[in-house]
Amino acid sequence: MPVQWAGLSPELLLKVDRDSGDRLSAQLEGQLRDAIRTGRLQAGERLPSSRELARLLGLSRGLVQDCYAQLQAEGYLVTRVGSATRVADCAQVVPAPAAPRPAHRTRLIADFRHGVPDLASFPVADWLWATREAARTMPTAELDYGDPRGSSALREVVAGYLRRVRGAAADPALTVVCSGYAQGLSLTLRALAHRGSRIVAYEDPGGPGTARAAAETSGLTAVPVPVDAGGVDVAALDAGGARAVIVTPAHQWPTGVVLAPERRHALIAWAQRRDAYIIEDDYDAEFRYDREPVGSLQGLAADRVISVGTVSKSLAPALRLGWLLCPPALIEPLTDLKRIADRGSPALDQLALARLVESGRYDRHLRRMRTTYAARRTALVTALAQHAPAVRLSGLAAGFHAVAHLPAGVEEPAVVAAARERGVGLYGMSECRTSTCPTPPQLVLGFGNVTERAITEGIGAVAELLGTGP
Ligand SMILES: Cc1ncc(COP(=O)(O)O)c(C=O)c1O
Repeated sequence: MPVQWAGLSPELLLKVDRDSGDRLSAQLEGQLRDAIRTGRLQAGERLPSSRELARLLGLSRGLVQDCYAQLQAEGYLVTRVGSATRVADCAQVVPAPAAPRPAHRTRLIADFRHGVPDLASFPVADWLWATREAARTMPTAELDYGDPRGSSALREVVAGYLRRVRGAAADPALTVVCSGYAQGLSLTLRALAHRGSRIVAYEDPGGPGTARAAAETSGLTAVPVPVDAGGVDVAALDAGGARAVIVTPAHQWPTGVVLAPERRHALIAWAQRRDAYIIEDDYDAEFRYDREPVGSLQGLAADRVISVGTVSKSLAPALRLGWLLCPPALIEPLTDLKRIADRGSPALDQLALARLVESGRYDRHLRRMRTTYAARRTALVTALAQHAPAVRLSGLAAGFHAVAHLPAGVEEPAVVAAARERGVGLYGMSECRTSTCPTPPQLVLGFGNVTERAITEGIGAVAELLGTGP
């Protein structure tokens, strides 16, 4: 789409060389022709007024008008009375470089992609209200570069919310607002690397790609540590040389197990004994169906746990907002690293989020979403029980994904590929394993962004691939 310059003339990189001996009008015409042929100026794009271009290049206006008239006669430009001179539609010889095409997602009957909340339920009206309120009441000083930890209003609100809902020992002074978990993790790993850590452990299965990429850019080595039915294996962690570990205690990603109480204590004891840090990824704890959400590990050991929160699951990933609850010893380096990274997260969005939480609209949205996800979870359980009773589900107590255990002998990669042929997006557990081993065959089924109807249709379409009976 051509740039439509509003008001001011567009800046055109043209120059004339008075010492070259070539006529100034010929130089100008030649450069404009080239710019149009090569696509630097695109069809429909507006040119500066003759007065403005003459002023910019130190030429007479008449010379520029003559040049425009010549190019119009040659078919490069079009001029309409009362309207700006523009590049003609068919003037381009070399096509403009194609813009990179956005990643294309094939249209599927059902896409069980995990990690995505129901995007259609984003509370647009509430967000508009909150943004408007934030902008209306925002003190002018908030428009300046602010505290790199983030707006004090949001830090107060988030800390209060996490104390109330997550049982966290949250202190606004020790809270840093960041761009979601991704930035929170990378800032934390960098701070730990500066402090002398060399190895960070991550849960296996888990998110090996994310952990390894963040560790690598921070100069750390990432090593896997196994997860079993009680969560992360603390004895195995202790046997390795890690001085930091990334864990998902409330709802292990992706198995869904909860870190057992004795493991919670053992993990904290490990951190204290080894002078190590625990990075708690508290990504979707709000959505628990069978009982109260499991409290944050940070509430038990605020000096050893960095808790990372995000609105990517509760609102939408595109907001890119999250927070770090920092141990006192790390607040200074983390604040410095945040300042260096981007000088602080966008103030208006932070204030809007503060308004959303403060007004109770955030809680209301979460309540609504809990009902939505519970219904989708039921639809998934029902569809599998009906169409593929040999498939066992686990990890359903919280969040919006479940693990489907396929019968032995079913090949995970073959199921994933064949399902796509049938218009259903399935994702194998092997993506979450460090070894990428496809056995035992399992699927991680996200149901956050799939309607009940699509869940039923999707499971129906792939039922026979999943193994039909014991
Ligand atoms: C395990 C886990 N934690 C956290 C997140 C959220 O990341 P972010 O806040 O950067 O969007 C994700 C995203 O999918 C995730 O899979």
